[in-house]
Amino acid sequence: MSGKFITLEGMDGAGKSTHLAGLAQVLREHGLTVRTTREPGGTALGEKLRQLLLDRDQRLHPETETLLMFAARHEHLDKIIRPALAAGAWVLCDRFTDATFAYQSGGSGVPWARIEALERWVHADLQPDLTVYLDVPPELGRARRDRIKAPDRFEQEAEAFFERVRAAYLRRAREAPARIRVIDASATIPEIARRLENMLDELIK
Ligand code: TMP
Repeated sequence: MSGKFITLEGMDGAGKSTHLAGLAQVLREHGLTVRTTREPGGTALGEKLRQLLLDRDQRLHPETETLLMFAARHEHLDKIIRPALAAGAWVLCDRFTDATFAYQSGGSGVPWARIEALERWVHADLQPDLTVYLDVPPELGRARRDRIKAPDRFEQEAEAFFERVRAAYLRRAREAPARIRVIDASATIPEIARRLENMLDELIK
């Protein structure tokens, strides 16, 4: 039996990493094989592209950025995601194509249709079985971002950028309501973990 593909999305400060680790643990407790990975990244090329993409000294054209995200994604799908799913593993990925819609289109203004075209090209046949979007209300995002490490290039962007990113995530969620579940990330960590576990139960059944 092939595994399931789960992606986790949210703006910086949403608690993605904590919940990704929690999800992996729950799945392993069910006796499932789990492969955790991230984007941009996940392969040797992807991690190199990640360094370039997140470099604060770079100023890439948003369409260059989009193409690099999809180049990394193509490699990731080919080398890691598809083989793991075919071998029966559950793949938990920290960000995926919804992030490109959110950041490169919502945030940086790349036309939505261009990203849709790349999505069709690179993975028309494969969408996540479940995407959890941890939605951070703007004030909470700001407070949490102020407390974290030195910002990467995307995290340095102005508030208006993050508002557009959020609006684009919510648009994606409206367009694919069966796949994308929105969780209010201002809830407590245990409460979010409980909701995630319920979603997994539905998927494992
Ligand atoms: P991370 O901090 O969650 O690991 O994500 C790295 C950054 O990359 C984050 O600021 C969002 C950004 N990003 C995009 O702009 N487009 C994408 O397609 C992906 C996957 C990430």
